[in-house]
Amino acid sequence: MKFFIDTANLDEIQEAFDLGVLDGVTTNPSLMAKEGITGEDNVRNHYKAICDIVDNNVSAEVIATDFDNIVSEGRELAKIDDKIVVKIPMIRDGVKAIKALSSEGIRINCTLIFSAGQAILAAKAGASYVSPFIGRLDDIATDGLALIEQIVGIYQNYGYETEVLAASVRHTMHLIQCAEIGADVATCPLNVITGLLKHPLTDIGLEKFLADHKKANS
Ligand code: G3P
Repeated sequence: MKFFIDTANLDEIQEAFDLGVLDGVTTNPSLMAKEGITGEDNVRNHYKAICDIVDNNVSAEVIATDFDNIVSEGRELAKIDDKIVVKIPMIRDGVKAIKALSSEGIRINCTLIFSAGQAILAAKAGASYVSPFIGRLDDIATDGLALIEQIVGIYQNYGYETEVLAASVRHTMHLIQCAEIGADVATCPLNVITGLLKHPLTDIGLEKFLADHKKANS
């Protein structure tokens, strides 16, 4: 399973990359606003700065919601760097734009997916990734992981090449369960990735190994 980090914070992206396990980055307008990135030039420069840290797969989301403007904004975002994946919301004009831009060879991440039907539409339109938001489904007492499992099964039935990118991953168990059910990618905050490191028996075991080594060598 690929690990993407879900943030626009350059320090966190660098930290995850330095860990050696990062396959990409997802951003969205809320995450860009959280970092105080505003204005067209600053936004472009920030995406470029992210691309300069990681090897591939930097999702940059369009703001436009009508076909013509989604397509022109998507083309501009794709020009920033070959690592850019254009993120388009699951709306009617978004589906049309996914078809148009993917036909030009631009990789698309279709976002705000909350049903299997939406995931089928995105795959048929040619999206490289679909992003079902599992945490937000859990928030409204709906099983987010069950949706991931359903989409993985449907894509397997027909050999769709679209990758299932589990988004709105809130904690380590979400991440582990995504791996169990075969999500292609999970995107999550840094603390979820580093949370995988932790086990008290590891800490106790290391402490004993080092103490025994010190005793034997003193
Ligand atoms: O990748 C989508 C993500 O940014 C949404 O996460 O926690 O706001 O539901 P959250």
